[in-house]
Amino acid sequence: VGSAPTNFAELDNSSDAIERDALYGIQVGQGYADWITNTPAKLAGGRVLELGPGTSYCGAIGLLGRGAADPVSVADRWLAPWRDNYHGPLYTRCSKLLREAGRAAEAKVFADIAAEGYSTRIQALSGGAENLPVESNSFDMVFSNAVLEHLVDHSAAARELYRVTAPGGWNFHQTDFRDHRNFERPLDHLLMSSKEWLALSEAQVEPHCFGTQLRAHAIAALFAEAGFDTFTQYHIEMADAEYASRIADQIGSDPEQIRVLCSLLILRKPLT
Ligand SMILES: C[S@@+](CC[C@H](N)C(=O)[O-])C[C@H]1O[C@@H](n2cnc3c(N)ncnc32)[C@H](O)[C@@H]1O
Repeated sequence: VGSAPTNFAELDNSSDAIERDALYGIQVGQGYADWITNTPAKLAGGRVLELGPGTSYCGAIGLLGRGAADPVSVADRWLAPWRDNYHGPLYTRCSKLLREAGRAAEAKVFADIAAEGYSTRIQALSGGAENLPVESNSFDMVFSNAVLEHLVDHSAAARELYRVTAPGGWNFHQTDFRDHRNFERPLDHLLMSSKEWLALSEAQVEPHCFGTQLRAHAIAALFAEAGFDTFTQYHIEMADAEYASRIADQIGSDPEQIRVLCSLLILRKPLT
């Protein structure tokens, strides 16, 4: 982290960086599409919001290319601006890779956006998950990857995401619960008091960039309190059992609960 949040920093547009970012971006959209296949949700014609897209909007564009309603929306507390010298080459490269893979519809959307900019295809919303500048019931599907761990107020975000999701609509949130200061010791931040952790998190150039002390089960509970039905929560990565149990002993927690390092939470807003 430099002197500005990551999304506002200059971007590396060397061909190696573009190749890496294109492959990553395609993978994010592919990941979202895979999450849907685990549910009865249907992407075709669905109104989609990608929360916290990061420096590029590849995930949302990928979903547009796979049949989401036009435009797709993105929302970020620090909304990354379009940069001709980066996003043009990036989306052109995504398009070429997808065309070579026989994915013509997605390739076309990336090529169009590379040529025209976000224009009418992307609705870019400047606002955090806690306070989204859109009408209630606007989206059939909301996706996020590695975002919920950076929120300021999880309870407010759960209520706000419930508000903007249409009845019967879906939320898919993959969250990284590790202490981002050192992935080798992913639970060490739990040893700090919540007051100390908050002070440290707010003192950063990009506040809350180190992740969250909230655990997977607690975030799921906040979304349930906001009114969502939990469709499922997959635990994707767990901390070493011995390390987790040492930390749990020190803070008086359940080692199995604090062990979850990455989870995919799939939620549905009830129809009525
Ligand atoms: C680790 S990046 C993940 C980017 C992207 N989703 C990915 O998978 O590579 C976290 C993103 O969440 C955004 N973010 C941080 N706090 C947020 C908030 N309160 N509401 C919405 N987005 C937020 C950041 O600006 C950044 O774009």
